[in-house]
Amino acid sequence: MSAKRGHPPPSHPLRGHHKKMVKLFEDLVAEAKKDDRSKLRPMWATFESALLAHINAEEAELLPPYRRGHPVEAKAIEEDHHFFRKVLTEFGVDLDLHLMRADAVESFLRRLGDHAESEDGGLYPWAAREVSTEVQERFRRTAEGLPVTKKKDGSGIGLP
Ligand SMILES: [Fe+2]
Ligand SMILES: [Fe+2]
Repeated sequence: MSAKRGHPPPSHPLRGHHKKMVKLFEDLVAEAKKDDRSKLRPMWATFESALLAHINAEEAELLPPYRRGHPVEAKAIEEDHHFFRKVLTEFGVDLDLHLMRADAVESFLRRLGDHAESEDGGLYPWAAREVSTEVQERFRRTAEGLPVTKKKDGSGIGLP
């Protein structure tokens, strides 16, 4: 993997996603504390679609091959994703009310942080070693909401 001549090296397809998620949510909480909360709805929409795209991409590209060797870890990740989807829906129903409830916000942010830390120590290093660069790139594009080219094979396992 080398950078193309004349271009800056591309960012690694597996890096930076979790930091971005947590930052978007922290910005949202800061916005909720302002008197003028006019940007709250669009910021929520951005966070919600980014988080959903992220967990959908993990489930589509990384978890199926990860599950074969790490069924317990994969199940724990899926359970967290289920929790995130549920809370997104609950928060979204009455955004102002929920973002004023500090305990709910804190527990969501804590679980998001723990989840990211756990994946950063397990799923992502595994994916960097075992998943082909093609699948990693497809993961990145899906997570960023970009169009994805058709899968050439469904294995998700990188070949040397
Ligand atoms: Fe995840
Ligand atoms: Fe993640």
